[in-house]
Amino acid sequence: MNCTDELCLDHEKIAALLTILDLSIKKLESGKVASLEDLRWLFEFNRDFVICNHNQKEENVLFPALVSAGFPGEHIDSLIEEHHRIRSRAKTVRGFIEDYGEGAFGARARLADAGRKYIDVLKEHIEFEEKAVYPVAEELLSNELDEHLTAKLRVFVETRVGVGRLIDLQEVLDSLKEIYGIET
Ligand SMILES: [Fe+2]
Ligand SMILES: [Fe+2]
Repeated sequence: MNCTDELCLDHEKIAALLTILDLSIKKLESGKVASLEDLRWLFEFNRDFVICNHNQKEENVLFPALVSAGFPGEHIDSLIEEHHRIRSRAKTVRGFIEDYGEGAFGARARLADAGRKYIDVLKEHIEFEEKAVYPVAEELLSNELDEHLTAKLRVFVETRVGVGRLIDLQEVLDSLKEIYGIET
């Protein structure tokens, strides 16, 4: 497995998170009750898996290697800026989840709106990486460097997030996928 395959596997898990979030938002939009516990957990997964794990792997391992291999630095800068935007939007959603939990006036609509925007920004980011960044990485990186980066990604996960935490996150994600009827 090369390093972009490894990162695409992360994207699949992130897609599951976004599908569950979308289903929760649909409940909010149709006046039904969305599980507060699930919403809180989704953004815990988002913090530990998306922001601290996946995005940091790109910023610390893939992107520097791409710049060294000749990928335009300004494109990488805008990807990193998007990571910042993703983090700040996630913070906004987390605040609205708590407002919703407290039954604050208008919290349901604010949460639905911010949640939709979050899904859009993250989906667009992932699509762009898979169409315009990862394929170029495969072209630019030699097999040897690719292998080295793949090993580096694994070490990064072990030291920054911890394998145990990742296993726990995966287990909860799998059980939510089952509850929400998501097959992929
Ligand atoms: Fe990214
Ligand atoms: Fe990514």
